[in-house]
Amino acid sequence: MIIEQIKNEILLLNKKYIDESEDGYDFWNNHIKYVVEEAMYLAETHNADKEIVELAALLHDVALMAKVGTKADHHKNGEIIAGELLNKYGYPEYRIEQVQGCIFNHRSSSYATNIEELCVADADILAHFDNISSAFILGATKFNFTKPEEFMEWFQKDYEDLSDVTKISFQERYNNIMSVLFGDLWEE
Ligand SMILES: [Fe+2]
Ligand SMILES: [Fe+2]
Repeated sequence: MIIEQIKNEILLLNKKYIDESEDGYDFWNNHIKYVVEEAMYLAETHNADKEIVELAALLHDVALMAKVGTKADHHKNGEIIAGELLNKYGYPEYRIEQVQGCIFNHRSSSYATNIEELCVADADILAHFDNISSAFILGATKFNFTKPEEFMEWFQKDYEDLSDVTKISFQERYNNIMSVLFGDLWEE
């Protein structure tokens, strides 16, 4: 129930962002849906609280989607907006705080203070590797990358930011992806 309600809120916000913002970025199809998918997979393997993880995955970038504040503080604004949305649907306060923790700490697995936060932080990174073309478009348009090296370093940094346990389970796939994308540049 609460999952559907929050998903609907996010889809509405996504449509509004596409219609009204300059870049027309489709957060849902390029990023959020993959984060949710990866987060649910990690929640299953780590025996985490799935409802908390799914809500946080849906809401983790809500401040960017709602165009509140800057990218640098989207974790803080996201925490506030998520609290308001969950409160609107009568979600219990102590559960809201758990979701908020995942949002506040989603920018790196090293910030995670519990397993739910770790699932969301790692899923945010893994989502980039699920949708490489979008990652390239983002790198080229938002970060002005022009050289393969720049993209490669970006992916490497992403991988380094994963938790140790996810690094191990993702390593083989990561090596395959990197060698397909960057060839000799990667294998040297
Ligand atoms: Fe984010
Ligand atoms: Fe994200």
